[in-house]
Amino acid sequence: MRALVLGASGFLGSYAGHALQKAGWQVTGASRSALRGYSSSIGLDSLRDVSAAITREPWDLVMNCLAIANHEACEQDPASARLVNHELPGIWADEAGQNGSHFIHFSTDAVFDGDSTDLYDEQDPTGGSSVYGWTKRAGELAVLAANPQALVFRINFFGWSHNGGRGILDFFASGLASGISMTSFRDYVVSSLYVGHLFDLALGALSANGTGLYHLVSSTPLSKYDFGVTVARAMGADPDLIQPGLLADSPTLSNRGHNLGLSVRKLEKLVGRSIPSTAEGIQMALAERGAVMDYFGSGIIPGE
Ligand SMILES: NC(=O)c1ccc[n+]([C@@H]2O[C@H](COP(=O)([O-])OP(=O)(O)OC[C@H]3O[C@@H](n4cnc5c(N)ncnc54)[C@H](OP(=O)(O)O)[C@@H]3O)[C@@H](O)[C@H]2O)c1
Repeated sequence: MRALVLGASGFLGSYAGHALQKAGWQVTGASRSALRGYSSSIGLDSLRDVSAAITREPWDLVMNCLAIANHEACEQDPASARLVNHELPGIWADEAGQNGSHFIHFSTDAVFDGDSTDLYDEQDPTGGSSVYGWTKRAGELAVLAANPQALVFRINFFGWSHNGGRGILDFFASGLASGISMTSFRDYVVSSLYVGHLFDLALGALSANGTGLYHLVSSTPLSKYDFGVTVARAMGADPDLIQPGLLADSPTLSNRGHNLGLSVRKLEKLVGRSIPSTAEGIQMALAERGAVMDYFGSGIIPGE
C-alpha cells in the first residue's frame, strides 16, 4: 500500500511518515522544506506542484497534513489562509478521488467557539473566533463537497517534534527534566490525543470504510495544567513544578475558546473500540520517544 503525505515537513506530517511506515505502508512525503525520516520525497517548489504530486501515481492514500496551522499567521494573511486551508484542500480531495486514491484531511477543534460546557459532537454548530477556525471549517466543507468519500478528522494532538521545541509535550518534558517551574492554564480544556494513537485510529477508520467528518481526539478532555501534571507523574518528576495559571489572564490568548472537549462517540462506533485517554497517550509517548527520535534522525531529505 502506497501513501502520499502532503505537508510532510510539518509537526503532524513528520510523524505521519513514522506511523504509516510502522503500519507497513510505503510512504512518500511531499514538502517544500527538508524532510526527516522519509525515504521517498517529492519537492514542492510552489503550491501548484501539489496537484502533480497527487496525480503522479495511483496512491492508495493521500493524506493532507499541509495547512497554515498558526493562528497568528492566519490573522496576518487571511487570503493565504483561505487558499491553503479552504480552497486548495477541496481541489486536492477532488483530484485524489479522480485518481482512485483515498483522501484523508485534517481539521481542528478550533472550528468551535469553546463556550460550551458539554462535549461538542460532529453535528454541533461551529463558530470559531479566528481566521484559522473559519478557514479550517470552510476547508472541511470544501473537501466533503468535492469528494464525499473522503475522511475529515477534527484533531487536537500532542507528540514529540524533531527539534524538541515544537509542542506542549516537548515543553513539559524538557522543563521537568531540568527542574524548571512552569505555569499552565487550568481554564483551557482540550481533548488532546497522542499522534501515535491518532494515526492508528485514522487508519482504523479507513479500514472500516469510514467517510465524512469525525472527531479524532482523546476520550478525556484535560486542562493544560492537568496535562502537565500528568506528564510529571508519568516521568516520575515533581508535579509541583507545574503552577496553575489562567488563559483568561493572558492578553494575547484570552479571546480563544476555553472548553474544546470533543465527543468521540461517532468514531468509537466506526472503529469498534474505545478511544485512548490523554494519560494513556502520555505513557505511549514516553515509551516510544527513542524510536520516534531515531526515525527523525534516520535521514534528512533537503527541501527543494
Ligand atoms: N498543531 C496542532 O496543535 C493542531 C491542532 C489541531 C489541528 N491541527 C491540524 O493539523 C494539521 C497539521 O498541522 P501542523 O501542526 O502539523 O502544522 P505545521 O507544523 O505548521 O505543518 C504544516 C505543513 O504545511 C506546509 N505548508 C504550509 N504552507 C505551505 C505552502 N504555502 N506551501 C507548501 N507547504 C506549505 C508546511 O511546510 P513548511 O514546513 O515548509 O512550512 C508544513 O509541512 C493542520 O491541518 C492543522 O490545522 C493542528
